[in-house]
Amino acid sequence: MTLLQRLPTIRAKLGSVIVIAVGLTLAFVYLILGYVLHVFQIREHLWELLFAGALGAGVALVIARWVARGMTQPLRDMARAVRRMEMGDYGQRVHTDSVDEVGQLAQAFNRMSAELEQVERLRRELVANVGHELKTPISALRAHLENLLDGVERPDPATLQVMLAQSERLGRLVDQLLDLSRLESGELPLRREEVALGPLVEEVLSEIRVARPDAGVELERRIAPDLPPVLADRERIHQVLFNLLDNAVRFTPAGGRVTVSAEGRDGVVDVRVADTGPGIPPEHLPRLFERFYRVDPARSAREGGTGIGLAICRSVVEAHGGRIWAESVPGEGSVFTFELPVAPATETRR
Ligand SMILES: Nc1ncnc2c1ncn2[C@@H]1O[C@H](COP(=O)(O)OP(=O)(O)OP(=O)(O)O)[C@@H](O)[C@H]1O
Ligand SMILES: [Mg+2]
Repeated sequence: MTLLQRLPTIRAKLGSVIVIAVGLTLAFVYLILGYVLHVFQIREHLWELLFAGALGAGVALVIARWVARGMTQPLRDMARAVRRMEMGDYGQRVHTDSVDEVGQLAQAFNRMSAELEQVERLRRELVANVGHELKTPISALRAHLENLLDGVERPDPATLQVMLAQSERLGRLVDQLLDLSRLESGELPLRREEVALGPLVEEVLSEIRVARPDAGVELERRIAPDLPPVLADRERIHQVLFNLLDNAVRFTPAGGRVTVSAEGRDGVVDVRVADTGPGIPPEHLPRLFERFYRVDPARSAREGGTGIGLAICRSVVEAHGGRIWAESVPGEGSVFTFELPVAPATETRR
C-alpha cells in the first residue's frame, strides 16, 4: 500500500495495479494448474501464456490510462483553481458531468469557492463603505481646521459646533461598526433577563422626544397591560427600539404619527413600529437590513445616517432567536416588526 502511495499519479497507480494483477494471475495459472493440478499442457505453453498476459495487460493499461484521465480531470482542474484562488481570483469553478465521488467533490468545491467569492466581495464592499463614510466627516473637519489656521474662519461657537457635530458623527460610526462586528462574532454575549416591554418602550420614547425635539411627529404607544415579559438583553432591545423609532421619526414628515405596539402570540411577542412616512419601495425591502444599505443615500447621509442601524437591529434580534422584517405601502408609511421569545417562567405561570 505504502509503495503504491509513493507513485505520483492516479494513472501510475492504476497501471501498477493492473501489471501486478496480471502478473499474479499468470503465476497462479502457471504454478497451480501446471505444477499442483498437473494440467501438463499449461507447462508446455509458457510463452503463449506470457504473450496473452502481456497483450491483456497492454490493453488494460491503455483503457485505464484513458479512464483515469477522464476521472481525474476535475481533480487537476481543482488543483489549478486553488492555485489561482491563492492569488486572489475567487471566480474559479470546476466543470464536470460525473456524479461519482470526484464529481461530488467538484460540486462541494464549487459551492465553497462561490461562498469565498461572496465573503471576499462583502469584505471589499465593507472596506470601501467604511472608507467612504469616514472620509466625509474627516474632510469636513480638515476643511474647517485649515480655514481656522488660515484665518478665513473664526473659532466662533457656530463653527466649533459644526466641527463637534462632525467628530460626533465619526465617533458614532466607529461605535456602530464595533458594535456590529462584536455582535456578528458573538463576542458580545447576551445578558438575558425578564424584560417588561411597556416601561422599556416608554423610556425609549422619552429619549426620542429629547433627541428629536422638533420632529413634529406624534408618538403613540399601544402596549397591552397584560403583555408577558420577554426573555431578552434589556440594553440590546433598547438599542433596537431606539434605532427603529429614530428611523420612523426621522423619515416621517411633520404632522405624521409613529405608533409602537406589542402583542403576544404562541410564545413570542411581536413589537411593531409603524409610521405614516413616505414608505419604502418594495424592491428595497429585502436589502434594508444589510450594512450601509440606504434607500436614498444622499438624503440619509445629509441627516447623518450611515445605514448601519437596521443591520444592528437584525443582528440583535437574530441573536435572540427572533426575526425582524419590514412592510411598507409607498406613500402611506412603513411598519417594522420584530419578535422576541416570551420569558419561560411566565409561560408556566399562565
Ligand atoms: N421608517 C422608515 N421610513 C422610510 N425609510 C426608512 C425607514 N426606516 C429605514 N428606512 C430606510 O432604510 C435605510 C436604512 O436604515 P438604517 O437605520 O439602517 O440606516 P440610517 O438610519 O440611514 O443610518 P443609521 O441608522 O446607521 O444612523 C434608511 O437609510 C432609509 O432609507
Ligand atoms: Mg437608522
